[in-house]
Amino acid sequence: MIREILRMGDPRLLRVAEPVRAFDTPELRTLLADMFDTMRAANGAGLAAPQIGVPLRVVIFGYDDPAARNPRYPDAPPVPRTVLINPVIEPLSEEVEEGWEGCLSVPGLRGVVPRHARVRYRGFDEKGGAIDRTVDGFHARVVQHECDHLDGILYPMRMRDFTRFGFTDVLFPGLDATPEE
Ligand code: NI
Repeated sequence: MIREILRMGDPRLLRVAEPVRAFDTPELRTLLADMFDTMRAANGAGLAAPQIGVPLRVVIFGYDDPAARNPRYPDAPPVPRTVLINPVIEPLSEEVEEGWEGCLSVPGLRGVVPRHARVRYRGFDEKGGAIDRTVDGFHARVVQHECDHLDGILYPMRMRDFTRFGFTDVLFPGLDATPEE
């Protein structure tokens, strides 16, 4: 079922979400099905449970089609379709990269956000299986963006340079809508 995506200003986006304590349950399956329906309907690249008002540490991101490319990162390897529960992110370098981000909770806008260039992330899939990946580039950016939602952080709160913040169609005229997270 497609759910309403909360937009910036809603206090529910600022909460710290709770860990999932039981895996492979009907409730978790329904939540994930709703999150994928909602993300696809909005043409998103990622979604966190708090964005649909569910205060649990659950994020999804990536693409079913392994050939899909993010137009903002046309040279980046595709990000696999991922369910990530109770995630922990560990930065693997001091290096910080700046890149454009959007967010389904901040529709129509883009801003440049500094992120760790390379991270290891760990967590669980919907059945409780362990996930442990070391990633960089867009994959590292999207997982940091989604996991921030679990701590009540929206990307404008990470920005340092507000001269690089604006409406997508003004910043990038002629470019078709790029996915938001
Ligand atoms: Ni977002």
